[in-house]
Amino acid sequence: MSTFDLVISGGTVATAGGVTRCDVGITGGRIVALAERLTGGERTIDATHRLVLPGGIDAHCHLDQPRAKGLASGGAIMADGFETGSRSAAFGGTTTIIPFAVQHRGQSLRAAVADYHQRATGNSYLDYAFHMVVSDPTAAVLGQELPALVKAGYTSLKVYMTYEAMVLSDRQILDVLATARDLGALVMIHAENFECLTWLTERLEAAGKTEPKYHATSRPMAVEREATHRAITLAEIADVPILIVHVSGREAADEIRRAKARGLNIRAETCPQYLLLTEADLDLPDFEGAKCMCSPPPRDKASQAVLWQGLKDGLFDILSSDHAPYRFDAGGKKLHGMKASFRKVANGLPGLETRAPILFSEGVVAGRFDIERFVALNSANAAKIYGIYPRKGTIAVGADADIAIWDPEKKVVIRNADLHHNVDYTPFEGMTVQGWPITVLSRGDAICDGGVLHGVKGRGQFLECGPPEPVTPPKGGLAWT
Ligand code: URP
Ligand code: ZN
Ligand code: ZN
Repeated sequence: MSTFDLVISGGTVATAGGVTRCDVGITGGRIVALAERLTGGERTIDATHRLVLPGGIDAHCHLDQPRAKGLASGGAIMADGFETGSRSAAFGGTTTIIPFAVQHRGQSLRAAVADYHQRATGNSYLDYAFHMVVSDPTAAVLGQELPALVKAGYTSLKVYMTYEAMVLSDRQILDVLATARDLGALVMIHAENFECLTWLTERLEAAGKTEPKYHATSRPMAVEREATHRAITLAEIADVPILIVHVSGREAADEIRRAKARGLNIRAETCPQYLLLTEADLDLPDFEGAKCMCSPPPRDKASQAVLWQGLKDGLFDILSSDHAPYRFDAGGKKLHGMKASFRKVANGLPGLETRAPILFSEGVVAGRFDIERFVALNSANAAKIYGIYPRKGTIAVGADADIAIWDPEKKVVIRNADLHHNVDYTPFEGMTVQGWPITVLSRGDAICDGGVLHGVKGRGQFLECGPPEPVTPPKGGLAWT
């Protein structure tokens, strides 16, 4: 009888805490042994010259969100649901995804969560959790639904400071933050000043400035900087940690750095598009600029340098894709035609599959940070922040055998034709990266190997999340408690 279901032998194992040459023994989907030499595997994967890394966690992606109502850009279809989205993520070395269960105004939060479970069940190749999007914080949502949902393993939620259909007032955000504080949940904030960007949008449209590049003009850095500052202020007043999502550039990063220096418990995320694209990419001819339209928009080279520095020095905790799978065709970005105002173009771009390889290549291979930091940004920190550590995000005895075996030398030219999502473009077309995951294990199953899909659709399991970490205990004794 074999001692292990599987042994990964001869590889270099890296976690956020260190690098070691050791074998990994896996049984029943879990890591059961780590030792210099292990034998007795029913199967063995030779990982010589390979890096054996915790599978990535993409903690910010949008899948199968129904056509948004009440948005100028509404009606565009998300091309990826849980099947193609998780498949694509897996080929890029990601083994856990955390998309959103979006509450529409007037809808109960429980109903929104149940709806997204239906969308995921039977479809995902990967394990998944959900962040909730709270767009209607009624007394019932705050007083009854959220307490029950947090208890049931939905411990993070996102609120928006923009988008007509989702924007919350400062007062509503304070109510959500105070509830999160009571429940020990983590609030993620999309920080853009809705009034300012709406005013700018109307001015631009009145002047006939409607091409994709004006999307960036309508949402300048100041729009994000002000909202980031306000989000931090609201969190300070409510005395609760927050995570600022998809930080695009220098001035927002500066706000976060200042807040952290003041001892506030602010977490932050950025995304590959802000590291690689600039505002100039929105000015590509033939409407191609729409491919790079996301909110907040990409900035400039100076901002990219600030974000890289922040990834290195701990300003940022996680790198997520913000995968928003709108196709370039008439079902997605071109839904309202190529002459449509930027206001009507669906926001967001795809990136589940390219996220980790870009971080590895531009981070580790380019010498910006070491492999431990890569693991922290790629998986360990997200697992901790969203309450699934150490089951996910590390290679340790007892953890799920979610492992990506990387060839650190392999050079890949990113071509949409080779990706596994259902979007008809990638904003990173033609970019060469070094390092790619060759074999990807989810709970011990080799779901992708050598570019071939072996996983079974629907095998992914829902993850109940525990309390986010670290949540510094509330100070107590506040004037408002
Ligand atoms: O443009 C973006 N980021 N679209 C996705 C939705 C969001 O706000 O994250
Ligand atoms: Zn957002
Ligand atoms: Zn998003």
